[in-house]
Amino acid sequence: MPTVAVAKTVQLSSLGISHIPSPETLLQECRDPGISLSPPRQAKRRPAIVMMESEDDDHPNQPIGTPDEAFSTASRNRKAFRHLQEQRKQLPIARGRESLIRSIASNDVTIILGETGSGKTTQLPQYLLEGGSYHGQIAVTQPRRVAATSLAARVSAEQGQALGTLVGYSVRFDERVGLGTRIKYLTDGMLVREMMNDPLLTCYDVVIVDEAHERTLRTDIVLASLKRILALRNGNGVDSSAKGKAKANPLKVVIMSATLDAEKFSKFFESAPVLYVKGRQHPVSIYYTSSSQSDYLDAALRTFFQIHVDRPPGDVLIFLPGQDDIENLESSLRMYANQLPQNVPDVIICSLYASLPNGQQAKVFLPTPPDSRKCILATNIAETSITIPGVRYVIDSGKQKEKRHLARIAGSGFDTLLTTDITKSSATQRAGRAGREGHGYCFRLYTEEAFNSMIASVEPEVLRSSLTSVYLQLKVIGQDLDTMPFMDRPDQESVGSALRTLWLLDAIDDSRHLTDFGRSLAVFPLEPQYAATLLASVKHNCTAEVMSVVALLSSSSPLFPDTSSQRDKANEARTKFRHPSGDHWTMLNVFRAYDEVCASEGKSGRKDWCKHNFVNQRALREAWSIRAQLRGICERMDIDWSLSCGNEESPLLRSLLRGLLQHVALLQPDGTYKQVMGPSVVKIHPSSFLTDKRSPAIIYNELVYTTNIYARGVSAVYKSFIAEFPKLTGMRLS
Ligand code: CDP
Ligand code: MG
Repeated sequence: MPTVAVAKTVQLSSLGISHIPSPETLLQECRDPGISLSPPRQAKRRPAIVMMESEDDDHPNQPIGTPDEAFSTASRNRKAFRHLQEQRKQLPIARGRESLIRSIASNDVTIILGETGSGKTTQLPQYLLEGGSYHGQIAVTQPRRVAATSLAARVSAEQGQALGTLVGYSVRFDERVGLGTRIKYLTDGMLVREMMNDPLLTCYDVVIVDEAHERTLRTDIVLASLKRILALRNGNGVDSSAKGKAKANPLKVVIMSATLDAEKFSKFFESAPVLYVKGRQHPVSIYYTSSSQSDYLDAALRTFFQIHVDRPPGDVLIFLPGQDDIENLESSLRMYANQLPQNVPDVIICSLYASLPNGQQAKVFLPTPPDSRKCILATNIAETSITIPGVRYVIDSGKQKEKRHLARIAGSGFDTLLTTDITKSSATQRAGRAGREGHGYCFRLYTEEAFNSMIASVEPEVLRSSLTSVYLQLKVIGQDLDTMPFMDRPDQESVGSALRTLWLLDAIDDSRHLTDFGRSLAVFPLEPQYAATLLASVKHNCTAEVMSVVALLSSSSPLFPDTSSQRDKANEARTKFRHPSGDHWTMLNVFRAYDEVCASEGKSGRKDWCKHNFVNQRALREAWSIRAQLRGICERMDIDWSLSCGNEESPLLRSLLRGLLQHVALLQPDGTYKQVMGPSVVKIHPSSFLTDKRSPAIIYNELVYTTNIYARGVSAVYKSFIAEFPKLTGMRLS
């Protein structure tokens, strides 16, 4: 479309982004044009792998055996329902329906390897339900909550039922299930939590471990636990043909993965069969930048507008590391998109990241209206967990956020969330998202050399995560991290660090036995240190205050977002909340003020108040819901959650200290702080509200590691409070 191209060159300069280089200078087409994500070659060679394509090719999809109510609900929108059924039949996995059902029926464990978008996650649980052989529940685990909730919504719609009836979900701090729920999408963390009450997972007939290739910590715990559960429920060994069928309530396990690591899973489950589901992948042309880009957000912005003005219709999916980057790019994109002349198609911007509120996820799946282009800003959640229709162009920043626990640093270890380069496997998955509906284009914002030097695939999270919380959960189900049959064994340093933390919290005793206190800690879906804070608040008569602070600390968004462009204004607005003791009371002051606003103002009033005060409403809303859940748990445990200390400072700080024993530091003569439980010297983060930056003792939520080690979320405490803890005073307390 030459005329359009000419017109658009002018438009771009009028947008103030005239420095956009031509595609030839910013991006070079890969010498090997197009990748084909056709079935992996190794897969073909391996005899264990059955090619689903060759089987049941002409087998029609079975009619859906839903209850009558399904159709009465669906009758409201019969056309949409029929359309969904048509879509179901068209999915690549539909051809292999019967083989899948058969394989799962005759094996305790089945590994399914399949290209993203082939229908594994949405269809397989329905096939098993409709097949009629299973009468208990079917669990489908997901590493991310947003995938669990959105997939449950989709599958509910495909079943013509309201979400939370036949199909439901369960994620931390949110659940929609009913007595009749048969398919439950849940995070791998929630399944570990369920094991604490039901160690053999007896309510499930089938457990599907999805996205197993991501090897999250909880997925690895689930896999190791399933091995033991299979032995107990199905008889020794994993082959059901003899012993399993004799058992009253055998378990079926399905492991699903989007990458080629199936062999490792198969080996782990004593040579379980591997089935391959072929996808429908079109070629994808890959472009690299000619030189490395120092600012991937700027490069993404420029590349998007290049595509928007030069290329034919098709939605754009941009992969970015995290929520902050997504929000930043979204505002720049909006600014430029609003200035586009009338003859240029509209830009519809949607985001997709793990903590996105439920209602907003649905937006990415809405069809793109004519004369517009959807631009989806996503984290690696869109790599394999969620497939968005209509995408033709992918922009890959080459970056991701990676959680890492540095067990060696700062004594107790130290969690970091770093922006790191992605793996080759991620880059390939990201490119593949462009080729689902036709020839696609992937613009990599890094050089071909950078791609070649990427590591092949992700290191399992169990090798780089804090193990404190899972150690405690496993103790509750009578398991020991040291003896679990892990696919990859965590190193001793991480295990030691988790043990020390739990011992310090009094969750385990000197002989590593779980204490009653430890058992109570595990009931709360919180980090053990915050659960300890909450339980301590009963003694200090301040459950109401602690509940609010702990809820805010557990929220996935920061209460005070970075406002570098308006720093002075933000500081001034936030001053009214400042409490001299530091950040915890300051957070509480914000929450108390928000509570009052909620009581008197409507939706828009609350929003304005947050904007005006430079506080993050999303964090407050999430904390509000977490607090409600925590109250429910307290009620079940007979804990009074309404105990209030009013404005008395000490009770809240003493409760926090009980949980943050590992995060105590003492002032040194040179003005820095030295950890009590570790060797590191730390500085108070510049963002802290603490007035006296030379208080004799501080507690903090976390350490961040930049040029120095900074303590973030800091409050001053009296040394006399610390003296109440013999485990701490046994250390170097001067
Ligand atoms: O698990 P797998 O990657 O094999 O595929 P899936 O998640 O089951 O998705 C199958 C199809 O359903 C894809 O074409 C998705 O685009 C579509 N889908 C959708 O349109 N809306 C959703 N909320 C979820 C899936
Ligand atoms: Mg899937």
